[in-house]
Parts: sequence; C-alpha cells; structure tokens
Amino acid sequence: MTQFAWWQKGIVYQIYPRSFMDSNNDGIGDLQGIIDKLDYLNDGTQESLGVDAIWISPFYPSPMADFGYDVADYCDVDPMFGDLDTFDKLVTEAHKHNIKIIIDFVPNHTSSQHDWFKESRQSKDNPKRDWYFWKDAKADGSPPNNWESVFGGKAWTWDEKTQQYYFHQFDPAQPDLNWRNPEVRQAMLDVLRFWLKRGVDGFRMDVVYMIMKHPDMPDYHSDARDVTDNSNLSEQHPAFDYPGIQDIFADMRAILDEHSAIGIAEVWLSDEKRNAYFKHFEMPFNFDFLSYETRNKWSADFFRETIHAYESSIPDGAFPNYVLGSHDAPRLASRYGSEARARMAGMLLLTLRGTPTLYMGDEIGMVNGNIQEHQVQDPQGKNMGVEHTRDVCRTPIQWDASDYAGFSEHETWLPVNEDYKTRNIALQATDDNSILSLYRQLIWYRKEHLSLSIGEYRAIDAPENVFAYIRQYENEEHLLIFNFGNESQTVALPKSGKIILNTHLNRSGDVADAIEIEGDEGILLRLS
Ligand code: GLC
Repeated sequence: MTQFAWWQKGIVYQIYPRSFMDSNNDGIGDLQGIIDKLDYLNDGTQESLGVDAIWISPFYPSPMADFGYDVADYCDVDPMFGDLDTFDKLVTEAHKHNIKIIIDFVPNHTSSQHDWFKESRQSKDNPKRDWYFWKDAKADGSPPNNWESVFGGKAWTWDEKTQQYYFHQFDPAQPDLNWRNPEVRQAMLDVLRFWLKRGVDGFRMDVVYMIMKHPDMPDYHSDARDVTDNSNLSEQHPAFDYPGIQDIFADMRAILDEHSAIGIAEVWLSDEKRNAYFKHFEMPFNFDFLSYETRNKWSADFFRETIHAYESSIPDGAFPNYVLGSHDAPRLASRYGSEARARMAGMLLLTLRGTPTLYMGDEIGMVNGNIQEHQVQDPQGKNMGVEHTRDVCRTPIQWDASDYAGFSEHETWLPVNEDYKTRNIALQATDDNSILSLYRQLIWYRKEHLSLSIGEYRAIDAPENVFAYIRQYENEEHLLIFNFGNESQTVALPKSGKIILNTHLNRSGDVADAIEIEGDEGILLRLS
C-alpha cells in the first residue's frame, strides 16, 4: 500500500478562537477554551467529532483592527487569548488527543502597532524604513498609484510626520511588509522556526500570494475594483503573485521540511495560478465553492463540472482539498438556504477526494448571525457596509441552551445567534438524527474506509439534478448520490450494495438495481 500522509486521510477543523470557547468569561474565546473542548473535537471515540487537525486563526498580540490578522508580535500570545505556556499546553494536550496543530502565519502585513512599523515610521532614514512600502505623493498630493484596499478605499495612507504614504492591501492598521528586504525575510522565516520549535505541525499562510508586489507599483488598469469579483481583482492587480515569490516559498518549504510540517496556502487566484502553489505547499486552499462568484451556486451540474475541472487541472502527485466554509464567508447553511442542503454540503465535503477543511459550527448547521449595522465589528463591514460584514459567520459557537449559549457567562463580543436554544451542540449530541450526528458518523466512517479519503474519484451518469460519484480504493467501493432538485428521482446503480447512511439519517438496508432518492437528499452506499 502506498503511504499517505496524515493530512491526506484526515480532516482539518478551523477554529476562530475569539468565538470558539471562552474559559475566563470575558466574552471572548481563548486558548484554554480550546483545551477545554478537545474532547468534543476528538476523544478517540465516535462520541466526538473525530477531527485530525485544528487550524487556529491568529491569537498573537494585536490591537484587533482585523481581529488578530493585524499582528503586533509574531512570537507571543495576546493576553486576551492566554500566554505561551497555555499555548504549549494546548500543543501537548491536542497531541494527546491525536489532533495536530496548525497555526495562522500572517506574512503579508503586520499591525501598525508592531515595533517594526513603529520604528519604520520614525524617519525616512530609519533602518527599518525599507521594511515597509513608503512612497512620495504624486505632484497633486494624491497617492502614488490607484491601488485599492481589499477592505475598500485607497491602499495608501498618508503619514504626516514623514510626509510620505505607506502601503496596505487591507486596513490602514495593517501595513504591508517588504519581502524584498533580506532582513524582513529572515525575521519572518525565524517566526516559522519559533513556532515549529514549540511543536506546531503546520501553518495556514494568510494571503501568501500577495507578499511580492510589482517592484514599480504601477497603476492598475481598471479604475475601481469590483468587490464581487475576487478573481478579477487578482488578475488585474500587479501586487499579486509577482515573480520572485517562488524563491521565498522555497525557503519556507525548506523550513517546513526540517520539521515535517505542512503548509496551507490561502490563494485566491485562477485555477492555473493557484495550482502552481502545489509546488511548495501541500494544500493551496481550493476556494471553488467559496469565492464571491460561486459561493451561492447550488446545482448538480455546477458541482460536477467544477470538481471535474479541479480534478483534471491539478498537477500529477498533488492531492486535492475542499473548503466550504470559513471565517471570511457567509455560513454555508445560509448560503445554500436550508439545513437539508447544509447536510448535503457536509456529506460532499467529507466524501470528495481531497482534504476537507471544516469551519467550526458548520457541523451543527449554524446560520449567519443577524448582525445589525451598529453591531458590526469587522473592518470590511465598517468600510463597505453591513452587507459585506464577515461578522455573520463569526458569532459564538452554540454549545448549549444556557445563557450566551454556554460559550461564556459574560456578554459576548458578537451577539449569540437567536436560534441557540434549539440549535446547539448539547442538544444535537444526544439526537441521533441531528446534523452533528451526521458529521460524526461520516467522519468516523471515513477514517475506517480509505476509499473515501484517498481513493479514486469517478463521477457517473445520473438523472437531471443528481450528482453521483464513486470512490474506490483497491476493492473497496462507495457510491455517493446527491439530489440537488426538489423532486424525488430514481437512480440506476452500477452494482448492488447497501445504504451506509443518508443525510437525514433515516435509511439503511440493501439495494439492488436502482434507488429512489428524495429531493435535497444525499446517500452514501457501499457497493458489493
Ligand atoms: C485573510 C484572512 C482574513 C483577513 C485578511 C487580511 O484573507 O482570512 O480574515 O482579513 O487575510 O489578513
């Protein structure tokens, strides 16, 4: 048997630490909260979720202009989340639970409160001036070029003291680092070493495709960015994916290899460009179902064709991955519109060929928080309007029906969703038909059946609105059938088999030539 790596067989679970579990009752989640809930994530039995790794969004000291994606010190823990000792304890305890630790590495920008930037802004001849991008205004006083920030508005902010603009692709509180400066490069590579020595198993690299900019920083062609089209932004923006970036990745790769760690690259680029990232990273995140253009698309044809295009475009030897939810996009239950569909999405995520990244809360079908304008926290929501706020998918995890959903005993940083009394982990954990039960059963079944993780993927003919595929490893074969329509359909089977489970968890039994599938249903069958 070929050896497959843990991440090819396993499942990554994303934790947004502010909203996972609050152990000290200040209304904000923390690292001790994660430790307290490790049994929920994987206690070695089917009573737990059974995830193999957690990716934790940033917990570093930060003024929280972008909730931790503005890092003021890469080698420490914000007191709000704990301290380095708590982090070390988390690594040890997680490993005892057979859970790997993946942390967020934010290489593109620091916080404006990072010591490096504070020095850099002191004077034009400060030794750290060149660690960031500083440029004179145009003759009319306007910014050096027409680049816009991902969060809306100009990507340049005027600095009174030194009479120059500095560059930030995100919030003004997130100045971009200059990776062409060898000192920056060393300092940032040392950050990777720092955490690897503390025992982390990998990094999720935040907007890593943005770190190299066009050296001349020319104007880009179109006047304004289209917020609904991230891929278009990437293509037209000379700041992204600029040549030279590969050398940096090679350095990162070498460091990861010294510790057998993995790299997950956050890349919002066209397929071809993204696929080039497989050269250096195990998992260039696949956002085929999460970009602005695709995140609401729900049809059998769309899923079949998109998966076919992905499967046939990735390089030989690369292993696919799928992401259906994150802290940056609306909740999948809300995007697809119902719990029945959220269940189908979960079954897709866990049975397609590729490493699944599951966003916390999706396993109980959490829906978007009902965030009013005055409650917006996210800088994107503040700049671009409440309809763009990412707060909706960052509301606290609903642990039980007690006040603040058992997440905290204190008023929470974002309001708890209104449905927490009827949708929570405690209720679903004891309900054999809940979406949480579905996730648990799928995850544990997948662990024991290699065809579902590393096996071959083959779509088969199916009636309209139905998407069906086979997963095969050696002589183990599973068939997955999803009815995206409302009407029930009859699907011919290539072989007889038995129903392992369906998305409503109410079917079992043997099947011979054909099977009837309800609308909004997914079925997993073992073929004989
Ligand atoms: C990534 C993160 C997002 C953050 C941005 C800037 O896209 O996922 O949450 O705002 O980078 O760091």
